[in-house]
Amino acid sequence: MRAGQYHRQVIRSPAPPDTDRYPIEPWALVERGLPVGREANSETLFSLGNGRIGIRGSFEQGDGNHTPGTLINGFHETWPIVYPEVAYGYATTGQTIVWVPDATGMAVTIDGAPLELRSASEVERRLDFRTGVLTTSVRFDGCDVQWRRIVSREQSNLAAFEVRVRVDHKATVGVESTLRNRQDLDHLGLAAEPSDPRRAPKFSGRVFESKGHRAEGGKVVADYQTVRSGLRLSMAVDHRVEPPAGFEARGDADNTTVVTTQDVQAGETVILTKFVLYGTDAGDSLEFPEADFETLVAGQTAALDEFWDQADIEIEGDDASQQAIRWVLFQLGQASAHLRGLSIPAKALTGQAYEGHYFWDTDMFVLPFLAYTNPEAAAEIIRYRASILPLARQRAEMLSQKGALFPWRTINGEEASAYYEAGTAQYHIDAAVANGVLTYVRATGDESLMWELGAEILVETARLWVDLGFYREGEFHIHGVTGPDEYSALVDDNAYTNLMAKMNLLAAVDVLDRMQDAVPDRYVELLSGLTLDPSEPEAWRKAAAAMYVPYDPDLGITPQDNHFLHRQPWDWDTPEDRYPLLFHYHPLVIYRHQVLKQADTVLASYVLDHEFGPELKKANFDYYDPITTGDSSLSCAIQSIVAAQVGRAGPALEYFKQAAFLDLQDLAGNTADGLHMATAGGVWLAAVEGLGGFKHTDRGPTVDPRLPAEWSALRYRVTIGGIRHQVQVTHDGVSVEPPF
Ligand code: BGC
Repeated sequence: MRAGQYHRQVIRSPAPPDTDRYPIEPWALVERGLPVGREANSETLFSLGNGRIGIRGSFEQGDGNHTPGTLINGFHETWPIVYPEVAYGYATTGQTIVWVPDATGMAVTIDGAPLELRSASEVERRLDFRTGVLTTSVRFDGCDVQWRRIVSREQSNLAAFEVRVRVDHKATVGVESTLRNRQDLDHLGLAAEPSDPRRAPKFSGRVFESKGHRAEGGKVVADYQTVRSGLRLSMAVDHRVEPPAGFEARGDADNTTVVTTQDVQAGETVILTKFVLYGTDAGDSLEFPEADFETLVAGQTAALDEFWDQADIEIEGDDASQQAIRWVLFQLGQASAHLRGLSIPAKALTGQAYEGHYFWDTDMFVLPFLAYTNPEAAAEIIRYRASILPLARQRAEMLSQKGALFPWRTINGEEASAYYEAGTAQYHIDAAVANGVLTYVRATGDESLMWELGAEILVETARLWVDLGFYREGEFHIHGVTGPDEYSALVDDNAYTNLMAKMNLLAAVDVLDRMQDAVPDRYVELLSGLTLDPSEPEAWRKAAAAMYVPYDPDLGITPQDNHFLHRQPWDWDTPEDRYPLLFHYHPLVIYRHQVLKQADTVLASYVLDHEFGPELKKANFDYYDPITTGDSSLSCAIQSIVAAQVGRAGPALEYFKQAAFLDLQDLAGNTADGLHMATAGGVWLAAVEGLGGFKHTDRGPTVDPRLPAEWSALRYRVTIGGIRHQVQVTHDGVSVEPPF
């Protein structure tokens, strides 16, 4: 054991920012110059989205891009998972979010020649957190060009683009605006990246079939259907130009170009605006808004004012962290604005990695942020879980279990994890979903969602737990599961899982108790709908009371599972370039060692604080922290929170910064593939619940902060029961306005 010694995690610590290229501003992310060599990374950082549509921050001019593209939440293609050796119950259908036809191209030509970004004398990109506009301003020899774009918060299926070209001399200005089926033109036939399981597999055949295409003047209308999943997509694109001029359209459904050209005088500006509508279901209007770009920006700004009123966090005394946390919050807001009964993918809509799948990440790490800042979005995530409950029941049955088992990773509700050891075996996802429901109800006081949907989730997950575990000598055990730490698999009595199951079981008992009085009709309806035997809640209560939780009296800690402490210690002299371990060691090698990918028992001690006295919590942190690699970015925020709670101020701030700068400084080395949403949610948790000390239990909210010495003040907002409270923490004390 190396208590007190901190292993240098694979997620590097943030370096001092390069403020010439990335100036620190409180309300914007700014990049000066072309991001040569880190194009894909920048595209992720400058992504725009609204929870439904996501557009990577590529350049409209088209040169210097790496993986430009547009994604729609839940819009996916399916493919058969082929196993050389199959076993009963393996997942059979892969699901991958696909690049939908992308309308970001708006290339400018002067006198017939396309401008080239690499010949520009100045390039600046600015993502404004208050207006939601991404602006690219470029100075070329003889002209200034400014592109702006937004993904609408007011209308979920709308994106708008604008380019302004101002010439210094008389010239013919042209703009070539494109609609490109990138999935089939740019990604077809590329092999999957064999060495990185996080990246999306590529399709060997076409994904989109054209179901109609019309391009006339500045208007394009196109319909598509995915080949295997059969999803329909309609698109409408419209252009307006000032001074007025004509448009000429050419191309087909895969690649349409709309061109406008006009002769202008020195000092004149040509402004082209492009509106893009995506339709995936009957309710989508493909009518273009009357509004011009400026009006859309005003609406976007008003929506963001509201967002910041609910969600802003202010850090005084550390400008870089202030900018980072605002960027993180902005991305969380973008990812959740219009969920429409879906969840948030692990990378939101900023990249195809993790295939657009929903994991436990959102329920556990992002939902709390939403519950306290935008509860309607938290409710959408719960609605999504409720909508896939029928498939979760089928999955439980296939696994010879009662109740419901949520898929480890999915879009359409079916299990899509082909590696069950670190996939389906993570039964703890059921408790994450249950915890999401409880968090929502605690934050909002809104029990109607509980009666309507939450109770059913709690009952079906409780049924799973009581059926999965078994009694031995009066104690209830759960064997053969994988906990959150994916560097141990198929273990017996994972402490996190057992404690979360206990919480889940008791919550199910409690909700049924309360329903009988509060909503007797719904209660009766639920019982008959679920054919609930009156003896079941008593069985849940009994299992919870008898739940076995490992404890090691010699070390005075909670063993991660029954075998963990007997395993061989990891060799901590392993060279840095052998991390993340999953890329360099067979799972069997990793599994037989005492080495963690991510917080596990430490996570339990944060979520289920009441199960751990302060001494045990501290002892657990000191034991596990040095042997946690942080190979999963889900770890650092949780380690920050628990470090703060056990009085380890140094690591608390260090881990907070790792989480806050994870993507901005590409600390995990894969921001290019999309941003880390769970970490983003974790940043909120670490600021508010860790350093900020906010805690909300059934007994009410409290604040017990751990303000870093380097900061002079921390201010955050939490909405509880519809009332927004502002919490201010300084070194002189805490104020809550209005008081809790
Ligand atoms: C983590 C999981 C997480 C998944 C998606 C993995 O690396 O270990 O806990 O759900 O990434 O973010």
